Amino acid sequence: MPLLHPVLIADPTRIADPTRLADPFVPASCLSDEPGLIDLVTLCELTAALAATPEVWRPVIRHRPDRRWYTRLLLSATVEVWLIGWYPGQQTEVHDHGGALGALTVAEGFVEEDQYDRSWTSSQMHRHGTGAVVGFDPTHIHRVANRGRQVATTIHAYSPPELSMRFAPAPADGGRAEDPRAVEIPPAAAAAATVLGPAVTIGAATAPMEAGRGDRGAPTHAVAGSGA
Ligand SMILES: [Fe+2]
Repeated sequence: MPLLHPVLIADPTRIADPTRLADPFVPASCLSDEPGLIDLVTLCELTAALAATPEVWRPVIRHRPDRRWYTRLLLSATVEVWLIGWYPGQQTEVHDHGGALGALTVAEGFVEEDQYDRSWTSSQMHRHGTGAVVGFDPTHIHRVANRGRQVATTIHAYSPPELSMRFAPAPADGGRAEDPRAVEIPPAAAAAATVLGPAVTIGAATAPMEAGRGDRGAPTHAVAGSGA
């Protein structure tokens, strides 16, 4: 039985038919009890559909200055969906998704994404504005940040759900290793990543920016669980 945030249950009478609980926002394949992989296009469409429906996320979203706010909208055997509120200045650590496919849509405001190559070296930044839809292949490594002056809201989907993700290793200068528990982002997958191709950007509100910062070297540890 999938776990659904109450806001997705638009009509309580649908409880009698779990496959239609979240209709029309969530396709039946995303409500399955049988483990499986949701394709990238479906993940993008799912986050885009939810973001385009403020009646779903507006009553729920919070933006807290003391920490990034998040809640899970959906967890099934095939996918999980998170709603995240970004106060100005908040960001994730550098992380991968450990083999999971992922997608995010910006529901309001904008976020910046530092994308890293497979050696965890920063390659470029993108700014994703309201309505931008971004898909991640299983090897995608990035940091997401709200570097603006206004709050931002994003919706993320990952398949398969509840896997492990990895974080950038400690800096070469001997500084403190990044604490995965401080990363309040949705989960990702276990280590062995399969190359399926580059990340895709679908939304028109995404613009490339100048090269990012910080070489981190290869990942040194894997972290199980949601981190959220
Ligand atoms: Fe991520």
